[in-house]
Amino acid sequence: MSMTEDSRYKFLTGSVVPRPIALVTSLSEEGVLNAAPFSQYVIVSVTPPLLAFVAHDLPGGAKDTVRNVLATKTFVINSVTESMAEQVQQCSQLYPPSVSEVDEVGFTTVPSLHIRPARIAQSPLQFECRLERTVEFGGTGSRTTMIVGEVLAVHSAAGVVSGHRVDHSRLSPLGRIAGRAYCRTGEVIHV
Ligand SMILES: Cc1cc2nc3c(=O)[nH]c(=O)nc-3n(C[C@H](O)[C@H](O)[C@H](O)COP(=O)(O)O)c2cc1C
Repeated sequence: MSMTEDSRYKFLTGSVVPRPIALVTSLSEEGVLNAAPFSQYVIVSVTPPLLAFVAHDLPGGAKDTVRNVLATKTFVINSVTESMAEQVQQCSQLYPPSVSEVDEVGFTTVPSLHIRPARIAQSPLQFECRLERTVEFGGTGSRTTMIVGEVLAVHSAAGVVSGHRVDHSRLSPLGRIAGRAYCRTGEVIHV
């Protein structure tokens, strides 16, 4: 693809749309709870249950989320609803590793059952994950890391999950289009 890296990023992320959003919470070795959104987010396997997200390096190196997950081997994927949009956008700003985005944007937390990173209370569906593997792509300056996690436990708000069924009208997931453009999923068509 004969485009600059910046154009290629904008073109690919503007083409593969809409994308679900994983708000990933992870703990630094110093114990700071980090929260960052990732819309390059996918189901990798059902048995075992594996979810993955992809993080691009910043010019200075790996993002806090990647460093935390490599160090602690655990993280939570918190689903994102429409009502969380502004706070999620705010979480994506550059904060130093010593600052918790969770506190900065006014989210509250609930302890996880199997791992140390906490969950976001405002998220109606949360997955506790243990690092299964990382896969790296690209080279110096344009490195991308796919982080694959095995789901150890799922938590849902009252009325959102019944057996294996998820009530999407209650989940109200937010989709990412590009930049600051998001979409709602309220209007469902059956075909
Ligand atoms: C909705 C949304 C989705 C995003 N998806 C990704 C993504 O899939 N991969 C990525 O590297 N950055 C993505 N970003 C940017 C990161 O969230 C941002 O770089 C963040 O500051 C990383 O935080 P951290 O350094 O605390 O890990 C996204 C931002 C937003 C607002």
